[in-house]
Amino acid sequence: MAVDLLLGLQWGDEGKGKIVDVLTDNYDIIARFQGGPNAGHTLEFDGIKHVLHTIPSGIFHKNAINIVGNGVVIDPVIFKKEINNLQKFKIDFKRTLLISRKAHLILPTHRLLDAASEASKGKAKIGSTLKGIGPTYMDKTGRNGMRIGDLELDNWQEKYRALADKHESMIGFYDVDLQYDLRELESDFFSAVEDLKKLTFIDSEEYLYQAQKAGKKILAEGAQGSMLDIDFGTYPYVTSSNTTAAGACTGLGVAPSHIGKVFGIFKAYATRVGSGPFPTELFDEDGATMGRVGNEFGATTGRPRRCGWLDLVALKYAVQINGVTSLMMMKGDVLSGFKKLKICTAYQYKGETISHLPFNIEPENVTPVYTEMEGWAKDLTQMGSPDEFPKSLQAYIDFLENELQVPIQIVSVGPDRKQTIHR
Ligand code: IMP
Repeated sequence: MAVDLLLGLQWGDEGKGKIVDVLTDNYDIIARFQGGPNAGHTLEFDGIKHVLHTIPSGIFHKNAINIVGNGVVIDPVIFKKEINNLQKFKIDFKRTLLISRKAHLILPTHRLLDAASEASKGKAKIGSTLKGIGPTYMDKTGRNGMRIGDLELDNWQEKYRALADKHESMIGFYDVDLQYDLRELESDFFSAVEDLKKLTFIDSEEYLYQAQKAGKKILAEGAQGSMLDIDFGTYPYVTSSNTTAAGACTGLGVAPSHIGKVFGIFKAYATRVGSGPFPTELFDEDGATMGRVGNEFGATTGRPRRCGWLDLVALKYAVQINGVTSLMMMKGDVLSGFKKLKICTAYQYKGETISHLPFNIEPENVTPVYTEMEGWAKDLTQMGSPDEFPKSLQAYIDFLENELQVPIQIVSVGPDRKQTIHR
């Protein structure tokens, strides 16, 4: 049985958590393949909002198995908090939440290194969530990291000490004044590790292989978005993992030939949190309205998100790189009330009009070229079927499908599970 993928196509925060939750009834296994507690996947049902960081978004479904794959980085302290926040749901975590032994651990000193690195960059800072993501992936590729499976070894604390000591000396190289109490951080860390060890660790690539052979339906859940991909995003203002489709293969051990459908999630407009180029960013009342109506604040950091018009150049690029087979458009309801809507269909770049994403999309290199469309006044949040779409929303969707050459299968018109229209 093929493994389906679900990915964000913009700068993250597209609404992946909601869609995984909506789709989970069709799957036996939900597997996260990259990122870590920098992610904030928001789900809403029965009038209550839930934010997940590392735990896959299928956790609220009794029969789904949730896997944290080898490509994910785990902070035991945040993981423990996440589990504690879910206690009221009486979830059988031991049975339904399985963690890859090959997933890497975020140490307290990784978080400190992240903070020191960002502080030392001044204006050029990435705008990291400061969860230790970059330093942890650096240790992974530098072949120094600690993995979940190490926690099963008798001498894991020795390994921990050697790495943490090394990190402390590295922090000393940064010319920044970083205040911290490592003893206190470590006491929380060691206590959280003991809780983590009560969960089930697995060889997830083998588990997933056997599950595929047994005909189980598997959905791979991505975090962040394609434009934050370490290779294909707006480098260096990106995260430190492959957020694109290929990341699911390396982050779960699934063969490329076993990938089935690729669901691409995008917002009807665009947002970005943290630093980095964003060609269609708005600094006017329209941008402020999107932020206010769309409640555009980071689910992990609470930072306000930058807002702008939909960038089809970037979206096409993401569709192409990921091989998206169906699209899901989120937050169409936020655009209700705009008289005119703009869609960026090309860039002015070095005196030319181009429709592909160039090497550098800094504002001094790129000016967006817009197509204007009619807006719609109707409140979409109560709609139940595509027949109720206002004409101009239908025209917006038709335009996008024509440009992207991929069908838009779901139109989401609000944060609740129920506010999901299948086409
Ligand atoms: P890091 O992954 O925390 O180091 O952050 C690197 C960049 O990715 C920053 O600009 C963050 O704001 C952004 N980022 C990381 N995770 C997310 C996410 O889940 N949603 C949106 N942006 C994110």
